[in-house]
Amino acid sequence: MVVAEASQESLKQRLNVSGGHALKGTLRVSGAKNSALVLMTASLLSEETIELTNIPSLTDIDGMSAILEALGVQVSQGADRIRLTAAELNGSAPPYELVNSLRASFFSIGPLLGRLGHARVPLPGGCRIGARPVVEHIRGLKALGAVVNVEHGIVTASVPGSKKRLTGAQIVLDCPSVGATETILMAAVLADGVSTIENAAQEPEVQDLANLLNSMGAQVSGAGGPVITVQGVERLRGCSNYPVIPDRIEAGTFLMAAAITRSPLVVEPVIPEHLSAVIQKLRDCGCSIEIKGRAVTITPGEITAVDITTQPFPGFPTDLQAPFMALMCTAKGTSVISEKIYENRLQHVAELQRMGASIRLEGSTAIVEGVAQLSAAPVTGTDLRAAAAMVLAGLSAKGITEVAGLKHLDRGYDDLEAKLSAAGAEVKRNIP
Ligand code: UD1
Repeated sequence: MVVAEASQESLKQRLNVSGGHALKGTLRVSGAKNSALVLMTASLLSEETIELTNIPSLTDIDGMSAILEALGVQVSQGADRIRLTAAELNGSAPPYELVNSLRASFFSIGPLLGRLGHARVPLPGGCRIGARPVVEHIRGLKALGAVVNVEHGIVTASVPGSKKRLTGAQIVLDCPSVGATETILMAAVLADGVSTIENAAQEPEVQDLANLLNSMGAQVSGAGGPVITVQGVERLRGCSNYPVIPDRIEAGTFLMAAAITRSPLVVEPVIPEHLSAVIQKLRDCGCSIEIKGRAVTITPGEITAVDITTQPFPGFPTDLQAPFMALMCTAKGTSVISEKIYENRLQHVAELQRMGASIRLEGSTAIVEGVAQLSAAPVTGTDLRAAAAMVLAGLSAKGITEVAGLKHLDRGYDDLEAKLSAAGAEVKRNIP
């Protein structure tokens, strides 16, 4: 209820971004949304308390807390930490309204099945950026011995036999899906025997999950590479003070904010290897980037056009395609931006065009010809990362850009306007 009310509120809100102000100083990166969400679902695997730190303050985190509470998990949240105790689960069926608004909550099917031997989870449904199937998640659970049926929009999974325990298996994914890898990994840690996940997603968030599971007593190796091996164990214990990795997508957005405003800036904490492809492209387009430990200093020069193609990690992330396109709208020359992960993730093109950008669409490729200056306009962030792209475009545009679609932005950026304002931007939330 609280979550629904919050998003109703943010439906009416706008960010007024006054363009042309240089940024300076340091932008601090919060914990990774996509890691935190899946680590929270891992709490379902143990009767003992898991305590996570570096938790970002986001509506998606509130949504996941609500889902876990509905399943019987005790949740207590501090400033940037969360304690989750799944001592006694009172259900294996998270409610539709909550799952529908938060795709990552579907991944709870893995730990529920591993812990209880049964789960009933609504299909997450389509979303604006593409169809987003869960075929691979289901195929993996079946390989581990579950009987899975999809009927009337609900996925029902159960482990036959009296022991209710999944059995280790070799699983070769058709595509390296992040969610499928995480779902199968969480199911396999409590299975009987050894499992391998081949063609696994190599994203840092998968590695973060494996590290948490190992600190709970699981035996997972190879995460971060294409083959993950899991030796099943009978039970997992709790853990305390597990820090979520820094959000590489938020960090990349900040680096692009520096580049689009042509401002030198420090972004930290960052795990630089998580952003290699992005840092390379920023260097290619004219930014000097210096890395010292977990601090990245960016000094933009003249920005020239470069091409990008989105790919699974370690390639250029789809979640930074829209922010990078905003930057390319202000570059010298023509860049070709190809979206290879989601079939419908170019809706921000029309919004950027409203700001004077020169972009031609050819299927899932955008050909962006840089313009001397963008001009402010009322625009809408059509999804989370598109909303961030609109804010970036607004930072460099002439005039005041009014960005709608904040319910998306608030899902994944921890107090973006406060962080940008502290670095010298003029960004104000207009609450009617
Ligand atoms: C995760 C991230 C999301 C990011 C995406 C890709 C979370 C909570 N979200 O989403 O921010 O944009 O990774 O980096 O971590 N696919 C199939 N069949 C399947 C599953 C996926 O074909 O069964 C395809 C999808 O259609 C898509 C691609 O695989 O084209 C990547 O999807 P996936 O890695 O599953 O994304 P998510 O885990 O949902």
